[in-house]
Amino acid sequence: MTMEELRQACLACQSCPLAATRHSVVFGVGPEDTPILFVGEGPGQHEDLQGEPFVGPAGQLLDEMLSIIDLSRRNCYITNIVKCRPPRNRDPLETEQDACIGYLRRQTALLRPRILVCLGRIAAMRLIDRDFRITRDHGRWVEHGGIWMTALFHPSALLRDPSKRPDTFRDLKRLQAKIRAELPDFYATRQP
Ligand code: URA
Repeated sequence: MTMEELRQACLACQSCPLAATRHSVVFGVGPEDTPILFVGEGPGQHEDLQGEPFVGPAGQLLDEMLSIIDLSRRNCYITNIVKCRPPRNRDPLETEQDACIGYLRRQTALLRPRILVCLGRIAAMRLIDRDFRITRDHGRWVEHGGIWMTALFHPSALLRDPSKRPDTFRDLKRLQAKIRAELPDFYATRQP
């Protein structure tokens, strides 16, 4: 299956009750040949209306975070654990995550990233470790099946609590160092 075929299947998905309340399916964006994947939690109101991940206030902050380490939407892939908006931005239920996770697994299989960055607790608990505690474990690195994985505070958490920003700056710098170590050609050849 190609990414476009997967996207078309996802756009028609009716596998969980979020299908009934969504405006758009937010599949993901980015070049298919990038080795860097960011995974958030699920679309919010702005994303649901526009069909693109991280386009609201949290998305503006994510763009700034990326630019600090010379990344951008043009050279990373960005998606979420669930592709449809949970009502009133509540956390996606376990059953909704279960219904949706196959899309992310197939996206990951197609992209074959070297580095996967979880944005926030929900993605980290789903992808890194059930017992992940974002306040304790952010910025740590683990390798799973050839993919280096870490988690940053979610941009929405940074908007709510700016005292977390210095830690995130350090985590971003470590991410940049990891990119340089694992992907030595990335910065020289990336789309700016
Ligand atoms: N928060 C997320 O986790 N994902 C988005 O796409 C937007 C906000």
